[in-house]
Amino acid sequence: MLGNFCYSNPTKIYFGDNSLNYLNDELKNYGKVVMLIYGGGSIKKNGIYDKVIEILNKNNKTIVEDAGVMPNPTKEKLYEGAKIAKENKVDLILAVGGGSVIDYAKAVSVSAFCNSDPWEKYYLKMEDVDNKIIPVGCILTMAGTGSEMNGGAVITDPASHLKIGHVFKDNVFPKFSILNPTFTFTVPKYQMIAGIYDIMNHITEQYFSGQDDSTSDYIMEGLMRSLIRSSLIANENPLDYEARSNIMWIATWALNTFVGKGKPQDWNVHMIGQSIGGVTNATHGMTLSAISLAYYHYIMPYGLPQFVKFAKNVWNVDTTTKSDLEVASEGLNKMEKWMTQLGLVMNIHDLGVEESMFDSIVDGTFASDSGYKKLTREDVYNILKLSMK
Ligand code: NZQ
Ligand code: ZN
Repeated sequence: MLGNFCYSNPTKIYFGDNSLNYLNDELKNYGKVVMLIYGGGSIKKNGIYDKVIEILNKNNKTIVEDAGVMPNPTKEKLYEGAKIAKENKVDLILAVGGGSVIDYAKAVSVSAFCNSDPWEKYYLKMEDVDNKIIPVGCILTMAGTGSEMNGGAVITDPASHLKIGHVFKDNVFPKFSILNPTFTFTVPKYQMIAGIYDIMNHITEQYFSGQDDSTSDYIMEGLMRSLIRSSLIANENPLDYEARSNIMWIATWALNTFVGKGKPQDWNVHMIGQSIGGVTNATHGMTLSAISLAYYHYIMPYGLPQFVKFAKNVWNVDTTTKSDLEVASEGLNKMEKWMTQLGLVMNIHDLGVEESMFDSIVDGTFASDSGYKKLTREDVYNILKLSMK
């Protein structure tokens, strides 16, 4: 561990199949008006909405609803939510859903009292919050993003095709998050596996960087091994509580800032994937799976020792009589096999990407330079080309 860091995470987690009961305790800490934010209606079909409403009523809360948060929430929706929150003098925002709903709730929490255009301030100019923040609580219904215990809030402007994430400081993290694995049982398979790959990629984005012998890497290897095992079980039987609970907990740890401490971080798969999302509105996790193999093969020569470690410690590759390059490649091949077995989208053409969109995707890619290879625009073009098939 060579890096210097400060670690703090203020989100209180309630985990398990009885965790919703703790909403009663938490509600006592906030005022009367609760803004209930949710997505396109899955919580009404699976009964979570009724359970939450019952608890809010029992605690004499005034409920202000803001429904219809779409996957990849838009800036127009954000303006609407900020207005609702301000006009109703909301005391607590309660987000019930997946990453899109929770990201949106955080964005609303910092935008309600913002004196300028929040899209411009937080996303185009990347400014910090300097106004009142409405507290956010979460009830997570889908595992993937880690938004339940971090400051990330990704918003899309469909007109400019820009999808941008602002990682806010810990004053914007949810105050509490309720994680009941049974709530994820109804997530459609496509979304479940997209979430699983999102988790994997959050870990690899932090794993493939740095040169030192880092405790963080050992922790990540353990998380990846557990994810691989549980994902295959959940893929066969989505109602397997043990597997779904492991996946939910790994998702939280993969991106609650803990495993990246003391390391440089890469994030270029996310940067390219996010840009693809801005152009196509594709599901987040699938934008990552569709470019990952091309990207990792591309950067492997620049970070070979870490790819060898990944192959040995995560994928149990036998190293006998093999060169480092062979071992590292076999690791990626095993990852590819796992991804195919899950049923992930493996190329960007299947997400609707055409070569004519490349310029726009490259323009919207804010490449980081702390991975093993500093990406030029040409590199991004090459990776897109390699990801087409
Ligand atoms: O909208 P509803 O009807 O609720 O349906 C959702 C949505 O269609 C459905 N769903 C969620 N829980 C369900 C369910 N359906 C049935 N039963 C349930 N229990 O799943 C669909 C996808 O939901 P969404 O919230 O969009 O998925 P996810 O959790 O993957 O979130 C994706 C968003 O998070 C951002 C992504 O860019 C994307 O905008 N990210 C946020 C991050 C963060 N805060 O740190 C980091 C990530 O890298 C990511 O960028
Ligand atoms: Zn992600």
